[in-house]
Formats: sequence, structure tokens, C-alpha cells
Amino acid sequence: MADIARIVREVAQEMAAQAERGAVATYIPPLAKVDPQHFGICIVTAEGEVHSAGDAEEPFSIQSVSKVFALTQALGKIGDTLWRRVGREPSGTPFNSIVQLEREQGIPRNPFINAGALVVADVNLAGHAPRVAIGELLRFIRYLAEDETILIDEHVARSEQETGFRNVALANYMRAFANLTHAPELTLGVYFHQCAIAMSCRQLAMAGRYLMLGGLLEPGGARVISAQRARRINALMLTCGHYDASGDFAFRVGLPGKSGVGGGILAVAPGKASIAVWSPGLNENGNSLLGTLALERIAEATGWSVFSPPR
Ligand code: DON
Repeated sequence: MADIARIVREVAQEMAAQAERGAVATYIPPLAKVDPQHFGICIVTAEGEVHSAGDAEEPFSIQSVSKVFALTQALGKIGDTLWRRVGREPSGTPFNSIVQLEREQGIPRNPFINAGALVVADVNLAGHAPRVAIGELLRFIRYLAEDETILIDEHVARSEQETGFRNVALANYMRAFANLTHAPELTLGVYFHQCAIAMSCRQLAMAGRYLMLGGLLEPGGARVISAQRARRINALMLTCGHYDASGDFAFRVGLPGKSGVGGGILAVAPGKASIAVWSPGLNENGNSLLGTLALERIAEATGWSVFSPPR
């Protein structure tokens, strides 16, 4: 068994010494103000051990990592009928791209690109006021993380509402294809608020446990989703979780992972660990530069890649 505590410590030390930290996202103004020197990591093992280092307790904007929890919620509501409205293929395009939507009649390639996440938000909105839909998602995440202190950063949500012109375009475009069932501004409100949820690495790693444990909240604990659904969400994270860099992430890290422009990544080593890393500086594909490097180091040191034989 790898010495996880030592690995976490050493990876955090290595990341602290890195000079090249990438560039923080600037298109959502509050994210531009985040100090790129931050680095946090937390690993929760299948045995329930928690190992963390750096800024692991500091909340950050989870942004697109929220799409994993929103997808889980939508599948809970409508099951596999979701796949009539969203595909399950990598897009090979950036997270906010609109180019495939016209050719593919408003059906997004997968639930993790923004277009797909908007359809998921539209599903979660059905039968609710936007405030209630987002409250439901927040309660779900708090339950997964076993932490009632998790909040939405209203300042980030408002700022995204004011600057999210591409998302507004995507929502309206899909409404034209009848693949949004609500007024675009309502669906967008749900989406912007889910992206503005703030969580620490510890909270995020705790919330991801159900994906490492075949759908269980904790070992021997309550069932959140079926084992099949957990496996499928992991498959989507591996193939689509880093957009047009998903292949490179699989090549370097070899774990299901979901990134956000706040610099967070949730990665899952099935049966082994739920891992959250945070470093706000992004690489050219918009994914955390040091977060990816840290996960690469962890996968190497532990042998947890889904493409490695068990050690
Ligand atoms: O839709 C947006 O632009 C942001 N709220 C989320 C984007 C994001 O995190 C992309 N992932 N890396």
C-alpha cells in the first residue's frame, strides 16, 4: 500500500516550488482576483482516511466541477431518457463552443460541455422555481460532503450572469431547437448558480466518494446511485471531463476527472480514492496547470491510473 500521507506532502511541496503556475481565468471578473499561488490537495481513500496539504480547507469556485453533481441529480430525476437530449461522446471542442450544435440539431455532444450542462440544468429545473432547483443541488452536495457549511458565492453568480454572453447564446440556440424546455434566463440562472458553489478540496474530495465507491456514500454506507450509474459517470468524466484536453488528461493521469475554470479538479480512482486538487492558474486548455501536474504525480506514485494493473 502506497504511503498516501507522504505522497500528498511531497506533491504539495513540489507544487509550492513551481514558478510556472498558468493564468487565472479573467472572463468571470471575481476569478481574475484569485491569487495564483494557492495550491490545495485532499485525498479521501476507500478506507475513509483523509490526507490533505496546502490550501485544502480554503473554499474556491468549483465552476464546471459542479456539472458532475448536476448530472447525477438529473439522472436521478429522469434516468436514461436524459440521453435523448444530450450525447455521450467527447466533443473535441472547447467547453463553451457552439460549432457542433447547428450540425447536430441542438443536441450537445456530452453533459460536461456548457451546452450539455445547460440541458442538465434545464432537467433539474423542471417543476421547480430556479431558487428551489439550485437549493436542491446544494443540499445534495452538502449531503455528499457531509458538510452543511457549503455555500453559493452570490457575487460570482451575479458576475457570471452579467458576463456570460456565450452561455446566453448557447441556451437561446438550444431553445430554438426545442432542447431547452424553460425560458433560457431561468435555466441560465440555475447553471450560473451551480457554477458559483464554493468548496474546499476537502469538501470536494468528500463529495466525490460515491464515484470511487460504486455509488455508496461511504464504505458500507447509504447508496447514492447504482453501481452502474457511478461507473458510467466515471466513464464520461474520463472521456469528456477535460473537454478538448480529455485525451491528454487520460494520457497523463489516467483517471476520471472533471475540471473547472476556478482551478479545481475532482479525480476518481475507482475503489481507491477520491481526490480534489486546486490551483487557480490554468493551462492553454483552461484546466488547472498545477492541478493536472499534481494528479499526474499522484497517479505515478500510487499506480492508481485505471490503465495500470493493480499493484
Ligand atoms: O460556463 C462558464 O463559463 C463557467 N461557469 C464554467 C466553465 C468551466 O468551469 C469550464 N471548465 N473548465
